[in-house]
Amino acid sequence: VTLTQDDLKKIAAYKAVEHVKSGMVVGLGTGSTAKHAVDRIAYLLQQGKLKDIVGIPTSSITHNQAVSLGIPLSDLDSHPVIDLTIDGADEVDPNLNLVKGRGGSLLREKMVESASKKFIVIVDESKMVKHIGGSKLAMPVEVIPFCWNHSLNRLVSLFADSGCVGELRKSGNCGKAYVTDNGNYIIDLYFERDIGDLNKASDTILRLPGIVEHGMFIGLATSLIVAGVEGITVKTK
Ligand code: A5P
Repeated sequence: VTLTQDDLKKIAAYKAVEHVKSGMVVGLGTGSTAKHAVDRIAYLLQQGKLKDIVGIPTSSITHNQAVSLGIPLSDLDSHPVIDLTIDGADEVDPNLNLVKGRGGSLLREKMVESASKKFIVIVDESKMVKHIGGSKLAMPVEVIPFCWNHSLNRLVSLFADSGCVGELRKSGNCGKAYVTDNGNYIIDLYFERDIGDLNKASDTILRLPGIVEHGMFIGLATSLIVAGVEGITVKTK
């Protein structure tokens, strides 16, 4: 049997859900990998193998999926400490630093994951990189819509040495700006060369007025489950 990429995502997701125990407050990630984890939690609840789970969704999409599957939900206001969050990522480096947000949900994901005692990242092996932010793929930044073009220019000039270009994320083919769950826009940054010190890059981005959050998740993940054609690899910090 040849495993598809979606099979690998499912394998990683199901493995992570083995860590969900009855009574836990569980952060529910967003994306095509995390979706399998939410399905699996719902299945185990229906089977009675899990009980008293409270889910904290990281996006309106995941909220709707969980509601349709009957998972009881709450939010960070009522549950400021989350036992375990399971979520995918766009890129993962060997130190478990991540790029997230190509699906647009980075802000709520980061709020939930930074409030989690444990955060398990689930990926297929294609997501593994040596350095995040240097892969030629997008590093998303959520910005307020007001004068977004000005924010784009300021972001790009921060990383001029790394050959940075940026573009406003569009919604489908209609040419309109993509709007996040929080009513903001996304600027996708692309780097010709590595951005260097991640914490420094993070700090400089977050200091710009008009910037809400960026897609680098530094030091937040506590373990990683990678599914590949050769099997599963688990890494814990
Ligand atoms: C959502 O905004 C993202 O952070 C996703 O968690 C991430 O893009 C992984 O998505 P996939 O599992 O669909 O690749």
